[in-house]
Amino acid sequence: MKFFAAVIILSALILVKAAKCPRMCSCDNTKLTVTCAGKNLTKVPAAVDEITVKLNLRNNNMKSLPKGSFIQTPYLTHLNLQSCNIEHVKEGAFRSLGRLLNLNLAYNKIDMLYQESFDGLSALKELNLHHNRIEEIQPGAFTQLGVLNMLTLSHNQLVYIPNMVFQGLHNIKWLRLSHNLLNNLAPEAFAGLFTLTRLSLDHNELQLPEVTRLDMNHNPMMYLGDEAVSMVKLTHLYLDHMSLQDVSDQALSKAPRVSHLDVSYNQLHYLEPLSGPKELISLNLTGNPVYCNCFLRQLRQWAQKNTVKLFGSCTGPSHLADEPLEKMKVLDLRCRRGESLKEENEKDDAPTQPTKTEPKVQCPDNCDCNVDGQHATCEGRGHTKVPKGFPAITQLLDLRNNHFHYLPVNSFKTVGSVISLHLELCKIHEIESGAFSGMKKLLYLYLSDNDLTSLDPEAFKGAPELTYLHLEGNRLLEFPGTALAQVPHLFVLHLERNVISKLEPSGLLSSTAPNLRELYLTNNTITAVAKDALDSELLAVLYVDMNQLKEVPTRGLSKTSQLEDLNLSHNSIKWVGPNAFQPVSRTLKKLKMDETGIEKMSSDALTGLGPGLRALTLRGNPVEVLPDLRPLTGLELVDLNDIPLLCDCTQQTLYRWLGSVNFEVTATCASPPEQKGQKIREVLLFKSCRESSESPPTLKSKTVSPKPSKTKKDKARSQKGRAKTISTTKSKVKLYG
Ligand SMILES: *[C@@H]1O[C@H](CO)[C@@H](O)[C@H](O)[C@H]1NC(C)=O
Ligand SMILES: *[C@@H]1O[C@H](CO)[C@@H](O)[C@H](O)[C@H]1NC(C)=O
Ligand SMILES: *[C@@H]1O[C@H](CO)[C@@H](O)[C@H](O)[C@H]1NC(C)=O
Ligand SMILES: *[C@@H]1O[C@H](CO)[C@@H](O)[C@H](O)[C@H]1NC(C)=O
Repeated sequence: MKFFAAVIILSALILVKAAKCPRMCSCDNTKLTVTCAGKNLTKVPAAVDEITVKLNLRNNNMKSLPKGSFIQTPYLTHLNLQSCNIEHVKEGAFRSLGRLLNLNLAYNKIDMLYQESFDGLSALKELNLHHNRIEEIQPGAFTQLGVLNMLTLSHNQLVYIPNMVFQGLHNIKWLRLSHNLLNNLAPEAFAGLFTLTRLSLDHNELQLPEVTRLDMNHNPMMYLGDEAVSMVKLTHLYLDHMSLQDVSDQALSKAPRVSHLDVSYNQLHYLEPLSGPKELISLNLTGNPVYCNCFLRQLRQWAQKNTVKLFGSCTGPSHLADEPLEKMKVLDLRCRRGESLKEENEKDDAPTQPTKTEPKVQCPDNCDCNVDGQHATCEGRGHTKVPKGFPAITQLLDLRNNHFHYLPVNSFKTVGSVISLHLELCKIHEIESGAFSGMKKLLYLYLSDNDLTSLDPEAFKGAPELTYLHLEGNRLLEFPGTALAQVPHLFVLHLERNVISKLEPSGLLSSTAPNLRELYLTNNTITAVAKDALDSELLAVLYVDMNQLKEVPTRGLSKTSQLEDLNLSHNSIKWVGPNAFQPVSRTLKKLKMDETGIEKMSSDALTGLGPGLRALTLRGNPVEVLPDLRPLTGLELVDLNDIPLLCDCTQQTLYRWLGSVNFEVTATCASPPEQKGQKIREVLLFKSCRESSESPPTLKSKTVSPKPSKTKKDKARSQKGRAKTISTTKSKVKLYG
């Protein structure tokens, strides 16, 4: 309201006095916009009208932004200073810009953020600082940015993130730190970022193989799988206020140093003992619907044995409600008969009467609904019809392992709050149109291991938010495209272990699942992919391993513009022709082709792929000669095991390449006979080969340097101001490394 009022008053002002416009600029007095781009300005023009809301100064030459640079224009909401050669932002430079929403400082030469660089920007929502030279952020630099949603610091030269540096960002949603030189994060580097849903840390030097990005925003009900957190130095891990339903016992197996784990305010009913962290001191389960029955025993025993302190309390059964977990004795944790783990048939269990003694939570017969009613299960109880009468607030409904055979229309009409629905192993062969109708909140649907051969086009009608769909282990004959058109937000689709034989027609994905990001088709019978069938601007992960492809589906991928991870293992692709990966070469990071039957690869088979490719697996292919791998300077993982390589002087580029990489690659000669069985690196013959003159010198020097990023770092080190940060880094490395 205030804003509108202001606009009206300001508009009135315009009518009264003609707005002024600086000489070099163009001004739009109705939109209150001033543009002075590309004018080689060395300072902010003085004559910008006070009432301006958008000021575009990109491509100028300002070097330094002094204190109070924008004191004349207090109504700005958008300020663009991209590519202005700015080296210094003096403390208080933006003071007076209390209405600014968006500040763009990208592509400048800023190397340091001072404690008060952003003072006064109390309404700022978005701050772009990518492509600068920032090596140091003083603690407190962001304390005034209490409503900032997105902070972009990618493509800078940060080596280390000290404790509490992001203090004050009370509303931050996405923090982007990609493409820096980070090799260490202080234990409390991200402390206080309670609203963060997305953290981008890719392209750094952290010990974070593969999983470098924790994308919680697409994952409101996240499951933490095996090795989900792979951070060797991590000590404090905050996973609170998410929607975790399940955490694998191996989730932290690659995070051995974690001492404090906070999973408070999730949807966890129990947790298995975590393998990996040996020094865990504190496990915070506050605010989870933890049910204190026999399922929790293992965790309790493990916590006692390893002196892990458990925070949080039981939500049920009723006689234990609100009891602190820490006070639970192992023997208190029991199951009623039938509910139980197998060994749980104790005689002394008798006093606990079935459901009757519990508070009256509405619940269908032969099901369990927990006390706060958000979780209901009828798993494996022999139901032949979907039970009715669950509490309306149920969020997780577990019906797996029953015998429904058929799901009629409106099967879930009264459980409109369910987010996650388990229907695995229910012998379902038909889903009637509208079966899930009314499930407005459904995000996760598990239909794995049923008997579906096809899907009604309206099978998912009425569940418009469906995001994760599991259809693996059915007998689907076709990609269920028409049914998917009902669920436009679909993000991950599992179709492993079906009998889909073709991906067609052209335009398949964009017309049926335009937002799909991950598609799993492992173990089907796919022989053909129609041209452009996988057309998508979002698809990043595609598994078509264990199928019957006879060629790389290059044409099928010709419009898959964001593919990152392609698994083609276990097919029958004898020949990989030139430019086979050209359409996806710009984005591809992982290419897996184990035991794919490859007998020959064109020397241009990998053409187009470059430094972006990080993993390449070719294990177990009967191919003797590999294409030149030297352009793939970003590789971190290569598997060349069980390939019968030819080892004569024609292959010396491979030999030299193997000598230049700084990770383990096992490659063995199979021919000529005198080299058979030798590791390529040890083949002496290559030393006597004449160095071929064709090797492009630029590429060579790149691959020879131990790590591409090293040189960048050295450069950064030699710059002024480096010494201080480095010494901190070193001492931290000692402490935590
Ligand atoms: C921009 O300004 C600087 C100094 O004011 C001057 O040296 C330079 O030649 C100018 N560049 C152009 C392209 O006008
Ligand atoms: C556990 O989590 C709750 C809620 O997030 C928080 O208030 C509490 O301080 C945490 N306790 C510990 C010991 O971390
Ligand atoms: C592939 O799927 C079939 C069923 O479609 C199954 O029997 C087989 O075990 C699966 N193979 C693997 C290796 O998972
Ligand atoms: C890719 O496919 C191969 C063969 O089916 C499989 O062994 C491998 O696990 C897959 N890769 C990943 C990352 O799952």
